[in-house]
Order: sequence, then C-alpha cells, then structure tokens
Amino acid sequence: MLRHSILFAGTEIIGCDILFMKRRATLEEIAIEDLNGDQTIPFNRVYLTGKEQEYFTDVLKQKELACNGRYTHKVQDWLKGRLGTNGAFLTGAGTLALEMAALLLDLAPGDEVIMPSFTFVTTASAFVRAGATPVFVDIKADTMNIDLAQVEKAISAKTKAIVPVHYAGVGCDMDQLKNLAKKHSIALVEDAAHGILATYKDQYLGTIGDIGILSFHETKNVVGGEAGALLINNEKYLTKARQLWHKGTNKHDMELGLVGRYTWTELGSAFAASEITASVVWAQIEKATEIVEMRKAAWQRYYEMLTPLAQTGHIALPHVPQDCVQNGHIFYFLTQSKTIRDELIQHLKKDKIESVFHYIPLHSSPAGLKYGKSAGDLRTTDSASERLLRLPLWADLSVAVQKRIIASIERFYQAKAQ
Ligand SMILES: Cc1ncc(COP(=O)(O)O)c(C=O)c1O
Repeated sequence: MLRHSILFAGTEIIGCDILFMKRRATLEEIAIEDLNGDQTIPFNRVYLTGKEQEYFTDVLKQKELACNGRYTHKVQDWLKGRLGTNGAFLTGAGTLALEMAALLLDLAPGDEVIMPSFTFVTTASAFVRAGATPVFVDIKADTMNIDLAQVEKAISAKTKAIVPVHYAGVGCDMDQLKNLAKKHSIALVEDAAHGILATYKDQYLGTIGDIGILSFHETKNVVGGEAGALLINNEKYLTKARQLWHKGTNKHDMELGLVGRYTWTELGSAFAASEITASVVWAQIEKATEIVEMRKAAWQRYYEMLTPLAQTGHIALPHVPQDCVQNGHIFYFLTQSKTIRDELIQHLKKDKIESVFHYIPLHSSPAGLKYGKSAGDLRTTDSASERLLRLPLWADLSVAVQKRIIASIERFYQAKAQ
C-alpha cells in the first residue's frame, strides 16, 4: 500500500507502513525515558495523553463501534468551536478528507487544480481521482510553501481550485491566495495536514479557505492512527459534504426528522472514521494545546542549538513569517548540497539517530507525469527535496536527547572542516 515517500536513513522507503514497522522494532529496544548513547533515537514517537485506553475501552463497553457516535461528535464539535468552521467531519485519514474536498468541487476531465509539487502524494491523487489534472508549481525557498507568483501564472480558464499546503504547520500567504481565488472565481482548498492549531493572522490553518483538511496520522501532532478531518468553511459545500460523509445518503435529514427514510443522493463513500478511532482522536484533542506547546518548545530548542551552524552558513534554518504561528510539527533544515545531506543522514545513522527527508517532487514522479502537468520552473522544489533533512521530533522529546543529536551534527561539520 503506497503511503509516504520518505527516505529513511538514506534508504528510500515507499510506504509509511514499512517505515513504521521498522520504527516499532526500534522502539522495543529502547527504554521510554532514557535514550542513552547506545540506544537508537527514533524519528517519531507517538505521544499518548493517558486517556486513550479509557475512551477506547468505553467504546467497546458501550458497543458503539461504527461512525457518527459520541466520540465523533466530541471531536467534530471541538473542531467547529475551537477552530471556528461551519462544518467538521472526522474521516478515516487526511487523504479521505482530501478526496471529499475534491468531490465537493464537481470536477470534470480537463479541469485543473493548482498545487505545489513539494507535497505528499495524496494532495494530488485526491483530485486526479475526482477527474481533474493537478498543475504543479514551485515553492518559495524560505518557507517551502506555494509560490504565489507561480500560482498566478498557472491560472487559466481551466483552473477550478488552488490547493495550498501549509508545510510544517507554517501558513501560506492566505490573504493573497484568497484574493487570487476570488478574482478568478475558483475554490481555495487548504491542505493543513501538518497544521493543527497553527495560525495565519490569528486564524487557524484549515479554516481560512473554502475547505480545509487536517491529518491525525500517527506521525502528526494529534494522532488517531489513521484519521483526518474535513473542515467546511464555505457553507455552500455543507449539505453535499454531509451526504458524502454519510456514504452518499441524506441520512442526516432522517436523523433530524426531516425525512422518514434516507436514500441515495450523492456519490459518497465510507469516508467517516469509526468510533474506535474517534475515541483515540478525542483523547488527543483534549490535550492538543499542551501537545502543540511541548512540540514547539522542542522545536525552539533545536532552532537555538543549531543557530551557530546557520550563522556559519552550513545550514539554513526554517523561516516562520511574522503573520504565522507554527505548531512544532516538523523540524527541518537545509544543507548546502544533496551530497552533504546524504552524508549527514549516514553519519547520524552511525550514531544511532534516525533522520528522514521528503518529499520526492510530484511533478517528476511516474504518476505525476502521467496524471499531472508542471507550470513554470520547479527549481526550488528540486533543490529542497535534495537538501532538506528532518530531525526526530515528538512532544516529550528531552533536552538530553536533543543534545545528543546536536553533538552528532556538530561532529559531522567539525570533521568536514578538517
Ligand atoms: C501535506 C500532506 N497532505 C496530506 C496528507 C495525507 O494525510 P493522511 O496520512 O492522514 O492520509 C499528508 C500526510 O502525511 C501530508 O503530509
């Protein structure tokens, strides 16, 4: 099953499942609190809030296992109330939320959807599945977010939507994107898979465009195993979204007593997450603010510890524009070249530190070439893909572990200087 295109410790691994099978084996070998020099530091470690088991057991006790139950409503109410959106639907994955978003746009063959090439596979495949052609544009070198100038150039009469991806939970320039979308009467769908509780001009990512999506995949800040959410900000999409989520029926109208029986109304699917998943997501969401704060603290420590290497020009650290508050989802930096990045990954691996890189650009991937097209030069995408390195990051990552990682990186650059 294709999941992520992540390069893992220098070896390409297509498939999250393979990546995490590897990681699980590693986790068994390590003590939870104590990652000393002999123990492998994994790239990701799921942070549990302590309530997951209780809620999960509650679902089993109540024998309410399917979708649309108490925990689903708790999650959806929180998303609506806390984030501020007109409709929220808990889905079995961020990918499924993207697929719902694409269906909401009534796309037809020939329609085009503009998106960055530097993103996860399903940002594009969701729209291809709905009949459209993804048009890949470049990103900006400072944030890895979609380049507005390239978007503007790529807009044509065929364009039906723009899909900005808020890379690493750092918001794209949504004011400008909104203006562009309005000017050309096209939809704006935010891929905020990385973005829970991050903001752009005090608005939560995912709630600014017409439609937004979040991911609660195991690697994200808030996890449910495989889960995600669709956020409907523009009310005109609400009725159809509800019907798509209810497997293509007007079951919601029946629940409201508006119709006696429900019937087939849309081309929906089993997009909703089960209550088993919802119970875990709820245990996480209750503590979402704390989780984000903990991750941000670890992110900030990395930033400070690596500043000397940035000052000497060895690496480039992430940039967070003034209008944005990020959420500590990803800590990455750029090396000077692909060779150095690959050597550093190998060096870290020798020191039992797992680091990864992504994304393999979509515009030159086999399916990207088959189903999509490129607009303009994608030089920054290619360069970021070759030079970007992600460091281990989880909510309760300790200072001691971070120091071990930084010491290893420093040794690498010291050896290079000799
Ligand atoms: C930018 C982006 N969009 C969409 C997704 C898909 O989310 P999920 O894994 O929940 O299906 C991911 C997942 O990593 C992602 O990084």
